[in-house]
Amino acid sequence: LNFKGYHFERSMVDVNLFENLDDFEIRDDDVFIITYPKSGTIWTQQILSLIYFEDHRYRTKHVDTIDRAPFLEYNLRNVDFLSRPSPRIFTTHMPYYLVPKGLKKTKAKIIYIYRNPKDVLTSFYHFSNFIVTLESSGDTESFMTRFLDGKVVGSVWFDHIRGWYEHRHDFNILFMMYEEMKKDLRSSVCKISSFFEKELSEEDIDAIVKQATFKNMKSDPQANYNHVVKNEVGTKNSDGCFLRKGTIGDWKHLLTVDQSERFDKIFQRKMKDIPLKFIWDI
Ligand code: A3P
Repeated sequence: LNFKGYHFERSMVDVNLFENLDDFEIRDDDVFIITYPKSGTIWTQQILSLIYFEDHRYRTKHVDTIDRAPFLEYNLRNVDFLSRPSPRIFTTHMPYYLVPKGLKKTKAKIIYIYRNPKDVLTSFYHFSNFIVTLESSGDTESFMTRFLDGKVVGSVWFDHIRGWYEHRHDFNILFMMYEEMKKDLRSSVCKISSFFEKELSEEDIDAIVKQATFKNMKSDPQANYNHVVKNEVGTKNSDGCFLRKGTIGDWKHLLTVDQSERFDKIFQRKMKDIPLKFIWDI
C-alpha cells in the first residue's frame, strides 16, 4: 500500500486510521518510538516499557511488550487508543510528514532509533524470507536494489532518516543509535530515562538492563514477539525469529566487497550533510 509516497505493509495496516490520522489527538504525556524497520524497534519497545511500567520491570503483570507499546499503523491487536490510559507509548515506522499533526510543538516525546543501514538491509533481507506477507528477498543484489529504491516497508531509508533529522526542531525528539545501545546498554538506558524525565533507582536500572539484553529478550515470551508470530503474522520458515542475531556488522556475511563499496558511495553522497554518527562494525 502506497500512501502519500510511503510504503506500508498492506495486509496489516489499519486503513481506517488513515482517514483521521492528521487529527489523531495527542496527549502531552504520549510517547512515540519511531524507527525505520529493522533498526531496533522491538528492543526500544522493551526498554521504554520497562522504564515506564513498574509491573513490567518487576514482572508482576504479564503483558506482551507489543501491547505496552503498540504500533499506531499496524494495530495488530485492535487496541482502543482513545480510551487507553496515559501514559500511552506508541510505535511507528512512519515518516515525519505522516504522523499526527498534534505531535508537532507539543510536549509529547519521541525517541528515534537509527542503525547503520548495511545492517538494516541485512536484517531486512532475512526478515523478508521469514514473514509470509513480505515479498521474499531473492538474491542479495536484487534485494539491495529493492532496498535502495525503497520498495520495502518503510520506503527509502535515506529519506526516512533525513526527514526526521531535518524536521527535528518541530518535535521533541531524541536520536539514539542502535550501536550505541548495543555497546553500552546501561548508559543508553540512563540517557533515555533522563530524556523522558523518569527517575530510576540503581535497582530499577539493573532490572531494565538485565531484561533488555539480546539473550534475555530472545528467551522472554513477553518480549520476543513469539506470540505475535503464533497469533498475528504468518511465517515462511519455522526457524526464523524477530530476534535474529542482534549484532553489529552482520552485513559482512551478506554483502560482497563490491556491493558494500557501492553502498558506501551512495551513503556518502546522500548523507554528507547529515552529521549523525554511524558505527559499521565492532
Ligand atoms: P538482526 O536481524 O540483525 O538480528 P526491529 O525490531 O526494528 O524489527 O529490528 C530487529 C533487529 O533488532 C534484529 O536485528 C534484532 O535481532 C535486533 N534486536 C532486537 N532486540 C535486540 C537486543 N536486545 N539487542 C540487540 N539487538 C536486538
